Amino acid sequence: MNAALRTTAAALLTALVIQIWTAPAIAAEDVEATGKDLTLIFRSARKVISDSQDLINDASKGDKGLDATTVIERTKANYLAAAGKELDLNDDGSPAAKARAAMLSAVRTTIDQAQPLINEPGKGFKGFLPAVFGGRVASSFSTSMAGTFSIKLTAPKAYVRSRANRPDEWESQVIETMFKRADYEKGKAYAEAVPVKGRAAYRYILPEYYGPSCLGCHGEPKGEVDVTGGKKEGAKLNELGGAVSLIIYQ
Ligand code: HEC
Repeated sequence: MNAALRTTAAALLTALVIQIWTAPAIAAEDVEATGKDLTLIFRSARKVISDSQDLINDASKGDKGLDATTVIERTKANYLAAAGKELDLNDDGSPAAKARAAMLSAVRTTIDQAQPLINEPGKGFKGFLPAVFGGRVASSFSTSMAGTFSIKLTAPKAYVRSRANRPDEWESQVIETMFKRADYEKGKAYAEAVPVKGRAAYRYILPEYYGPSCLGCHGEPKGEVDVTGGKKEGAKLNELGGAVSLIIYQ
């Protein structure tokens, strides 16, 4: 290696080391707020898809007017209604601000890519379900924030349909031993500093429950085939159905 190359290599290495050392520093006391905020953006976006199921599955319509800009506007409105404050999109350079922007970008990408399906005329049920949308947003977000944040939709082991959503050991532990406990406060998230694959991280997980609109697919009778071709879980109203799980690497 000649001298110039060595200098370049050394500079690159230094830059890399600095980047790793200064990688996302969410202070421990900010973990809950960041977790609450990011999962709320995720859920606000998914609610748009949930509220639009009849429109999406309307075979008589081509263009549904459900483009990315519309979905993002409605996401912001859902966020405002749930949080009582506007979604903060100021880029102050913080990891949390980057993550908020990345979540909206993931929504945009997912909706852009789904346009041909959403607008397909003559087709009724399209399988563009809230959980499918959520899974794609989660994977797009986690790819773009690789090594800093990742988000995932999961469920109790006995209920999980998509392999990609299977709970890992930590998620399963929290779901089975805390969220499912009769005296666990409903809707309360749980956060913990715990390494993920050997890397220091904070984890934040928020339980979700089956409402009336979910039971047509996830309810009783157990094993009956639902409209998606999957098997109903036999779940009951208000039962724990899933969780949104966030990792913030330290
Ligand atoms: C039209 C049928 C249908 C309805 C209604 C429905 N789901 Fe699902 N749900 C599915 C299917 C199918 C999957 C698997 C999606 C995939 O393959 O990614 C799924 C996946 C999920 C997951 C992710 C874990 C897993 O099993 O892969 C959760 C959590 C979930 N649903 C909760 C809900 C909740 C809560 C509601 C109501 C607000 C609801 N679902 C309404 C069909 C439905």
